[in-house]
Amino acid sequence: MSKTETGLIVRPPHPVFSGVGRAGFRASLVASFSILSAVILLLMVLLPAASCGYGAGGDEIVVGEFGSLTGDTADFGKVTHNGIELAIEEINASGGVKGKRLRLKTEDDQSRAEEAATVVTKLINQDKVIALLGEVASSRSLAAAPKAQDAKVPMISPSSTNPAVTLKGDYIFRVCFLDDFQGHCIARFAHDTLGTGRAAILRDIRNDYSVGLANFFAEEFQRRGGAVVSDQSYSAGDADFKAQLTAIRSSNPDVIMIPGYYNDVGQIAIQARDLGITVPLIGGDGWESPNLLAIGGKALEGCYYSNHFDPSSLEPVVANFVKKYSEKYGQAPGALAALGYDATKLLTDAMNRAPELTGPAIRDQLAGTKGYPGVSGTITMDQNRNPVKPLVVLQIKDGKISLRETIPPS
Ligand code: PHE
Repeated sequence: MSKTETGLIVRPPHPVFSGVGRAGFRASLVASFSILSAVILLLMVLLPAASCGYGAGGDEIVVGEFGSLTGDTADFGKVTHNGIELAIEEINASGGVKGKRLRLKTEDDQSRAEEAATVVTKLINQDKVIALLGEVASSRSLAAAPKAQDAKVPMISPSSTNPAVTLKGDYIFRVCFLDDFQGHCIARFAHDTLGTGRAAILRDIRNDYSVGLANFFAEEFQRRGGAVVSDQSYSAGDADFKAQLTAIRSSNPDVIMIPGYYNDVGQIAIQARDLGITVPLIGGDGWESPNLLAIGGKALEGCYYSNHFDPSSLEPVVANFVKKYSEKYGQAPGALAALGYDATKLLTDAMNRAPELTGPAIRDQLAGTKGYPGVSGTITMDQNRNPVKPLVVLQIKDGKISLRETIPPS
């Protein structure tokens, strides 16, 4: 087919003046249309780069996200990012916030606390973000929070459960329950529901979350009449847990509490079974990852952990979220995705109520949040910027994770 036949003649004369007839007119239309679309395309590429975000008076609001997209606990950051991204898409599709589009600026902290502080400083100073979403891990939220606080940029952690996180200052919020509640719930479940009396603990000694959760668990387990027969520690990323597990084995526990993160938990479980330890292992939300069973496999059969979210819930807000998330990512959402989604939506809820889009105005509205219907439960901020929410205990049975019980807030 020649060029002439397709109508794509190079530069046809203007139809009105040249009188070349229908074919020429159509060719000219095609040509002007493609020039127009090229210009539109060019504008679409150039405009977002040129506009400078809310802080500099642009037509969009820049929200910062910091998370572990790489490193030891990359699953935390990746899954949380999915939840945040879905929320941002939905908000923009329904008109944005106060007529402005949200733009998410995401920084990877490589699963490291010092890096979290560094990238948050960059998000605040260079990207001029209006607010911050992050981190999952308490130690990383604790490192970043003072930067947000000093700059009066509201920060919402989706899932850091250590009580100290929001005590860093009045600009620091979270949308999840706390580890005093979580530790007490796990102790109650182990003691009363499983009927165990002798617990061993294996804690990640440089992790604020792990140490705090271990302590809250021990306190409540003993208060209920149980005994902590061995208290061992490791450091995240260790490869060999045999010495600690051998000590635990000789203390003859009925249950072993491992308040760590999924990657280490999986290895610990495998080595425990290798040493002939058969008692159930229990843990907290740090076990949560789409790869928990891929890492720990059969070694985790018969184990339990506490969490924030039950994707099998029939509540309409949950079912709707599960459906949308599954369609987009081809996988059902877990707690991290649900909390990332809730943190984002809660932030925009506060932005919409704020009289102006400034850190202090948004902070005040966040602090006043009451009865917000999150997918991970209803959120009302208390005076320390923490919500009070129920917890779920999940069980690993026949290679599947399912709901064992729901514990209401105390
Ligand atoms: N609660 C954990 C912490 O504070 C993080 C976490 C939350 C991990 C939810 C998995 C799921 O460090």
